[in-house]
Amino acid sequence: MRANWSELLLHRCGLALRESQVPVFAELLQSRTAALGLPNCTSYFDVLQADQDTGDEWTEVVDRLVSHETMFFRHPETFEAIRTQILPDLRRRPETGGNRLAVCSAGCSTGEEAYSLAMIALAAAAGDFTVWGMDMSRRALDTARRGRYGARAVAAVPADCRRYLVAAEPDVFEVAEDVRRHVRFVIANLFVSCGMFLSYDLLVCQNVLIYFAPSAVPRALAALASRLTPGGFLLLGPGEAPTATPEGLEPVAINGVRAFRRVALPPREVRS
Ligand SMILES: C[S@@+](CC[C@H](N)C(=O)[O-])C[C@H]1O[C@@H](n2cnc3c(N)ncnc32)[C@H](O)[C@@H]1O
Repeated sequence: MRANWSELLLHRCGLALRESQVPVFAELLQSRTAALGLPNCTSYFDVLQADQDTGDEWTEVVDRLVSHETMFFRHPETFEAIRTQILPDLRRRPETGGNRLAVCSAGCSTGEEAYSLAMIALAAAAGDFTVWGMDMSRRALDTARRGRYGARAVAAVPADCRRYLVAAEPDVFEVAEDVRRHVRFVIANLFVSCGMFLSYDLLVCQNVLIYFAPSAVPRALAALASRLTPGGFLLLGPGEAPTATPEGLEPVAINGVRAFRRVALPPREVRS
């Protein structure tokens, strides 16, 4: 039985069912089977199989197997690199011209990473941009859309970005409207490339692939890479499983950050 569940998880969302998670997963199966009034766990298998990749039952599974832990400006080296190197580089690209930058926080959880990206772009006066926060958990995205956070979540917000937080209640902060209007949250399964529907100039995917089965990482990376504009950047978390450089990307040396850039398309041949 276990092999089937593992395979279903792997095929639908790339997740690995680790030995240590088996008791938690068994408890989830029992509670969902009872909640849906199903005769047994095999019936729940059929429900999950028939559910869309971003359906409510997949939220239940992801919420149980994957941590949503996050905070504003987690891994500060990433944000420093974006501010000092990546945004200026993207703005210099001839392809970008006066166009709006598209940024994606892939696996954004409850929204802190997406809002941090918007804050950094605003503080750096990066021009017009939209940050797309994507996650497979409907619940996490509901929290993200509320944009209200406790003191611990915002503790690492740098001094020049504190102005983008509004004190709502004691120890509760709201993301300022200036930031929110640049951020959209969308439910998406990163394991299937069709879950992402645009091309992005900057894709940040941190602390997500660590939950994937090793065999699923290259496919997930290929799906992310295929969504980058020419010259666009992919930044991974420091702990993401080491793999070969995804096809079409080149590694970029940035201190303390795993960065790749989509190789820009060669200029079109001009024929007379
Ligand atoms: C630990 S959080 C990472 C949050 C943030 N990126 C950070 O580094 O702080 C991992 C998130 O990945 C999401 N996730 C896992 N597998 C996913 C998939 N196949 N598609 C979309 N999101 C996924 C989970 O729902 C969870 O919110």
